[in-house]
Amino acid sequence: MIIKVLGSAAGGGFPQANCNCRNCGDVRAGRPGLSARTQSSLAVSRDGERWVLLNASPDLRQQLAATPELAPRADQGLRSSPIAALVLTNGDVDHVAGLLSLREGLAFTLYASARVLQALAANSIFNVLNTATVPRIALALGQAVEMAGLTVEAYPVPGKIALYLEAAGPDFGTREGDSIGLEVRDPASGAAFHYIPGCAAVDTALAARLAGTPLVLFDGTLYTDEEMIAQGLSDKTGSRMGHISMSGPHGSMAVFEALGVKRRIYVHMNNSNPVLREDSPERAHVERAGWEVAFDGMEIRL
Ligand code: MLT
Ligand code: MN
Ligand code: ZN
Repeated sequence: MIIKVLGSAAGGGFPQANCNCRNCGDVRAGRPGLSARTQSSLAVSRDGERWVLLNASPDLRQQLAATPELAPRADQGLRSSPIAALVLTNGDVDHVAGLLSLREGLAFTLYASARVLQALAANSIFNVLNTATVPRIALALGQAVEMAGLTVEAYPVPGKIALYLEAAGPDFGTREGDSIGLEVRDPASGAAFHYIPGCAAVDTALAARLAGTPLVLFDGTLYTDEEMIAQGLSDKTGSRMGHISMSGPHGSMAVFEALGVKRRIYVHMNNSNPVLREDSPERAHVERAGWEVAFDGMEIRL
């Protein structure tokens, strides 16, 4: 199985268009030790021929152009694509907007939770994807589905409904299925990994599911819950946005310590996150804790 990180940044990307924070300013200026990043997405394939995209970022066109494996094959006629399926982990703009860049007649199957499919159905702009060529299939939580020779099982994780759907009431109207994790498996080799780019907390169900697994790509949005407030960028904490922090007693570094996950990789980093600076103490800290920080173009073979 081949995993490619198409985009490793959270919504807004790195640098973010309207942001002149220290990280964004430095990466824009080309300072060594920081790399630009596009928005959150992976591609995965069992055989290198047929690919499944995990999320569709607003930067998808640029990501496809940077990934020769995802280009049409010379022997497949005038119009084709190795993209066989696409799975959404939530309805956030940074995970669904790229669907609009796949409207030129590509034929693939779109999978998401019933909740996220409902949000797409309520936005008529997504009708540019003809359901005759892009069928939409609701993922039953806890049941594996075959896609391009792989199996993908979706399961609910603590999270938050998409920002544009927030409503009055507890948890802004969040319900099961608004945020899912994915377990992707090659049934032939048994190789498997988990992909959870948005997660508010590791509850007992999630901890049990991840314990002892070989590879998890996990929500690395913020280093500290209040970092966007501390940097004067926003009035929101990470928990208000439905994202666990890396640090702190309930942060991902701490809670993963007991889980025995062999390889741990952060994805979906916000531009405020100090781990984006390769020479920062925070980067050294997460690496000492056994974590890797994904970068665009990162390739993993299982
Ligand atoms: C998030 O990950 O919190 C969302 O992508 C935020 C957003 O929709 O901009
Ligand atoms: Mn996001
Ligand atoms: Zn910034």
